[in-house]
Amino acid sequence: MRKLAAGNWKMNGLGESLSEIRALAEAHPAPACDVLICPPSTLLARLSDAAGDAIATGAQDCHANETGAHTGDISAEMVADAGGTYVIVGHSERRTDHGETDDTVNAKARAAWRAGLSAIVCVGETLAQREAGEALSVVGAQVAGSVPDGARAANTVVAYEPVWAIGTGKVPTLEEIAEVHDDIRARLKARFGAEADGMRLLYGGSVKPGNAAEIFGTSNVDGALVGGASLKAEDFGGIIAALA
Ligand code: PGA
Repeated sequence: MRKLAAGNWKMNGLGESLSEIRALAEAHPAPACDVLICPPSTLLARLSDAAGDAIATGAQDCHANETGAHTGDISAEMVADAGGTYVIVGHSERRTDHGETDDTVNAKARAAWRAGLSAIVCVGETLAQREAGEALSVVGAQVAGSVPDGARAANTVVAYEPVWAIGTGKVPTLEEIAEVHDDIRARLKARFGAEADGMRLLYGGSVKPGNAAEIFGTSNVDGALVGGASLKAEDFGGIIAALA
């Protein structure tokens, strides 16, 4: 399957950041993997215009409803209207900062599909949960609750992001990553059958140009969800190159 390098800019980026996208598009006119940038929603339309055909764009969150009285939220249809083709749902920062549950995330993933977008469903354990030996059970429960029935390879990506590895420079061992990714794949296969073979499983958490190649060589890792290292064209370009 074609791998995916997905960048999550989080709450970073102003109009001047579009130059990074132009530089990225120029340096990687025909990347060997799918490339996606999820900027803050204020930049989505402009970034979609600047990105060109080789770089897909998406949002970092969406509301479950199509329209309505939800001040400050954006719908999946608005993401599509602004040129996006993906939306990240259930990132740990949203689960923590906004109290999102698996049910919330499940509804947002279905909203993404309703609007014709692919959902990147994020899961991951905390350090305390890993140290208690609960990583597989926590992640398994999140996958079960957050990935909606009817998921298809074409519209569903699962991102495993250990909370303790996000923005910390700490990365699980390759064995730990493989153990979780193999387990997620097995759970998806049990539920979705052969369709699960084509669902991309991303690793996220302190992916950098220097560690990307070995992470991408790990069992059932089909790409990465990248925060800090997606902000600069040079860093993200190094990760894209490692996926080739
Ligand atoms: P990081 O963030 O690459 O800065 O660790 C990853 C993420 O939260 O998606």
